[in-house]
Amino acid sequence: MKIAFFGTKSYDRLWFEPLSTQKGQEITFFRPRLTSETAPLARGHRAVCAFVNDELGEDTLAILKQEGVKLILLRCAGYNNVDLKAARGLEMTVLRVPGYSPEAVAEHAMALAMAANRRLHKAYNKVRDNDFSLTGLTGVNLYQKTAGIVGTGKIGQAMIRICKGFGMDVIAYDPYPVPDLDVKYVSLQELLHESDLISLHCPLFPETHHIIDAEAIAQMKDGVILVNTSRGGLIKTEDLINGIKAGKFHAVALDVYEEESELVYEDHSDNILDHTTTARLLSFPNVLLTSHQGFLTKEALYTIAEVTLDNAAAYENGQELQNIVR
Ligand code: NAI
Repeated sequence: MKIAFFGTKSYDRLWFEPLSTQKGQEITFFRPRLTSETAPLARGHRAVCAFVNDELGEDTLAILKQEGVKLILLRCAGYNNVDLKAARGLEMTVLRVPGYSPEAVAEHAMALAMAANRRLHKAYNKVRDNDFSLTGLTGVNLYQKTAGIVGTGKIGQAMIRICKGFGMDVIAYDPYPVPDLDVKYVSLQELLHESDLISLHCPLFPETHHIIDAEAIAQMKDGVILVNTSRGGLIKTEDLINGIKAGKFHAVALDVYEEESELVYEDHSDNILDHTTTARLLSFPNVLLTSHQGFLTKEALYTIAEVTLDNAAAYENGQELQNIVR
């Protein structure tokens, strides 16, 4: 199987190269991310390997099909960037890596929550500048506070375990509750109303798009901490900015945000950002952003590479496809 690998970073090669040799698969590593403009690079490959910020809309898929691609290997869990209807129409198979390391993402969610809460992003820079004062660094205890987990899949469940470890009361919202999960399910309204920390772990679907908007923010407690490690489109950024300006939040910590796809995984330090909402978010002292790195642990990277290449092999050998996206 010849695989065209888009958006290659050094850490991708580190894990994919030796494993693909071991498994007898041939990978061409391309640096650009996959868009309709870069899709022709896939000529002569039966599969493409894509990540969260690649654009797999109808146009891109049609070009890939023309170039001979039959298989989309997503090296991630989310698949909101793929036009599945178009893929079906073109008879292309889409495979993903579900739940490669829920703990990697949940641990990052708690790291973000704590860093933003205790203003570690500010403290780090202050001390480096010989400013040992504590002004602007006051946080809140999480012990005995209420954590509200939106989405109780693999990552949400890992986050529930972590929050319990902090001595928090945990409540959760999920339209498809997990039987026997040791958590109190409540309505989304109740969760917004009761939680001191809200962490989003549901996928981006049409029905979850902007699940956090002005109306949802108005229902939250004053001084709430909001964390999003799931997908940027869950939060309506304009409304979030208004909420932050109105002093609603103690802290906001985002690994994902609406304008991220042209920013993440690239060095823009010499550029003037014309992404208005991201630049505005970066201007607030109680907001912490990271670059969609929740998945970035050694354990997760190894599993992503292994499952992606096993998906390719299962397709090639006509085996049952465990990780198909329909
Ligand atoms: P999962 O499929 O195990 O769980 C998703 C849960 O969301 C399910 O329990 C489902 O019932 C629930 N859900 C569906 N609709 C909902 C709604 N309207 N409201 C609340 N919950 C709803 O997925 P997993 O593995 O836990 O991943 C969750 C998300 O995390 C992924 O969809 C992806 O967007 C994101 N992610 C982010 C990463 C990062 O690097 N920041 C890495 C991996 C995943």
